[in-house]
Amino acid sequence: MKELLKGLNIYLIGMMGSGKTTVGELLAKELEYRFLDTDAIISAVSEKSINQIFAEDGEDEFRQLESDVLQEVSAYLYTVIATGGGIILRQQNWSHLRDGMVVWLNVPIDVLVQRLKDDDTRPLLKREELQTKLTSLYEQRKSLYQQADITIGIEENDNPNDIVQKIMVEI
Ligand code: S3P
Repeated sequence: MKELLKGLNIYLIGMMGSGKTTVGELLAKELEYRFLDTDAIISAVSEKSINQIFAEDGEDEFRQLESDVLQEVSAYLYTVIATGGGIILRQQNWSHLRDGMVVWLNVPIDVLVQRLKDDDTRPLLKREELQTKLTSLYEQRKSLYQQADITIGIEENDNPNDIVQKIMVEI
């Protein structure tokens, strides 16, 4: 619990649909920490949905906004931060993530497919070939997610409270 005593931020990383926002809100309540979500902040400051940013400004612009928001939120303490699934892609983001405790929610692809099959808010995913796309993104990103301080293996029947308890044991 060393990091907790210092009030270091907890960054939740993981694939789209891995539950970072839902789990993050509950974890923040449990710890009496503030909760922030980088996608929500990006949407609020740009007054656009994530889909709109990708469509109108492109992924590079989105990644820049994401890095800027991460830099700003890293100034806080006592905060649980749900990040976008691609936050791990830019090396520069790791210098901020590393200031806190990085927790990877590792969810099986089949579970992600079930959760995302009716979702149209993720510009990187089309409903067709969802399984193939998620598998290839996971394979591309796995070695980056593995750089987390803590990995939480999530099983199909875990509910958000179970996951919070798994995290509490590790931090
Ligand atoms: C992305 C994940 C999304 C969002 C954007 C890109 C990604 O966030 O940042 O659509 O590259 O994995 P969630 O992980 O919260 O869905």
